[in-house]
Amino acid sequence: MTKDLTITKEYKLFINGKWVDALSGRTFESINPGTGETNAIVAEAGPEDVDLAVKAARKAFEKSSWALMTPADRGRLLYQAALKMREKTEFLAEVESRESGLTIRETLNIAIPETISVLEFYAGLANKVQGETLATSPDRLNFTLKEPLGVIGAIVPWNFPLMLAMWKIAPALAAGNTLVIKPAEQTPSSILELMKIFQEVGIPEGVINIVPGFGAVTGNALASHPDIDKLAFTGSTNTGRIIMQAAAKNLKPLSLELGGKSPNIIFSDADIQNAVNMSTFGIYFAQGQVCAAGSRLLVQDAVYDDFMHAFLKKTQSIKVGNQLDMSTLMGPQVSNAQLKRIESYVEIGQKEGAHLLTGGERYEGAGNGYYYTPTILENVTNDMTVAKEEIFGPVVSVIRFKDEEDALTKANESIYGLAAGVTLSEAYAWLAV
Ligand code: NAI
Ligand code: MG
Repeated sequence: MTKDLTITKEYKLFINGKWVDALSGRTFESINPGTGETNAIVAEAGPEDVDLAVKAARKAFEKSSWALMTPADRGRLLYQAALKMREKTEFLAEVESRESGLTIRETLNIAIPETISVLEFYAGLANKVQGETLATSPDRLNFTLKEPLGVIGAIVPWNFPLMLAMWKIAPALAAGNTLVIKPAEQTPSSILELMKIFQEVGIPEGVINIVPGFGAVTGNALASHPDIDKLAFTGSTNTGRIIMQAAAKNLKPLSLELGGKSPNIIFSDADIQNAVNMSTFGIYFAQGQVCAAGSRLLVQDAVYDDFMHAFLKKTQSIKVGNQLDMSTLMGPQVSNAQLKRIESYVEIGQKEGAHLLTGGERYEGAGNGYYYTPTILENVTNDMTVAKEEIFGPVVSVIRFKDEEDALTKANESIYGLAAGVTLSEAYAWLAV
């Protein structure tokens, strides 16, 4: 589909406005999960590179033209980057799909356009940051002044690499901060391509620094760096815990966006076909690798058979295949490690008494990638592992309920609280996170 844009397959670190090798000279490979082949060779930042990146971000925050830029100019610069992203939507979609396994339909229609919308939103917000004046006695003036925090350390996951990075980049930049970003080791390419766009629109050196590498070394170096002012993380609950501990040691504020096991509730008065469509989207979108996935499907007894009949049919009709094929509805999982996690969950589910209604195996029809079949586990109860833990794959756990009270009890029986869905007759409610 993309004709005139070649895909760079070698990337360096981006520190202080320059593309540089890691001081150690180390590199790692990212994989195309649709084929299992190498997708890109990427410089691997060590702690010493992370330190240089933080120093560059500090200097840019305090001394560069960025520090002196008016909010309106900052907003304009972000907006120019958004415009360039729009021009390169197809290219970015392809880069993102090749490495993450998101289907080209997903990146072209949702992931990339939504990422651009996020940037546009914050571009518009840059000059609308306001404080307050507070009522007080006549001899006092009491007001709040909002200022940028400083250097933001961002650690992002692989499921929506560009969007989840942008959720951190755009607000941080709009407010006048600088950033050091560690992409997920599986998916650094699209974020590095985004950096080229920011370069083209003239972002001052040091404002954004990108340090690809692995969590335990590169991520840990950033999370425990004493000279960042805030950490922002999206990823697994376990890693969130580790990052919180690292931040606690230096008393750094942080924001965490972690996992979910979200209930998607189908009441007996739902429009069945609509409920089926939204439930399908809810669990199979992005190969089930979504923090807000509707991974616990709660279905009311009164419509159980009708709903499940249609849902099974729809599930079995999903076309699995290479993520770059426009007709593919479900692509590969992001990695072999994730594929194995999914397999083990489905096995545990069955051992604990869940019934495998469909799927439950690798998909072999699309080559050497990490493909899994859309999978339904029935007769699940909330005490089972597959109802408690985030599987992060195309596996839905179906739980029956009797009435509204039963639905609420079962929906809330989870350590998570990220999202929830209720199927109404015109259902989009479940997208509301
Ligand atoms: P992860 O949470 O370990 O990785 C996310 C990011 O954190 C990556 O950039 C990684 O390099 C970094 N990281 C890992 N360990 C770190 C450490 N000790 N210090 C600093 N940074 C560190 O997620 P992983 O292992 O790739 O996936 C495992 C499971 O996590 C998935 O099956 C899924 O359940 C969940 N997950 C949830 C996501 C969400 O959006 N809520 C996104 C990705 C994974
Ligand atoms: Mg991990």
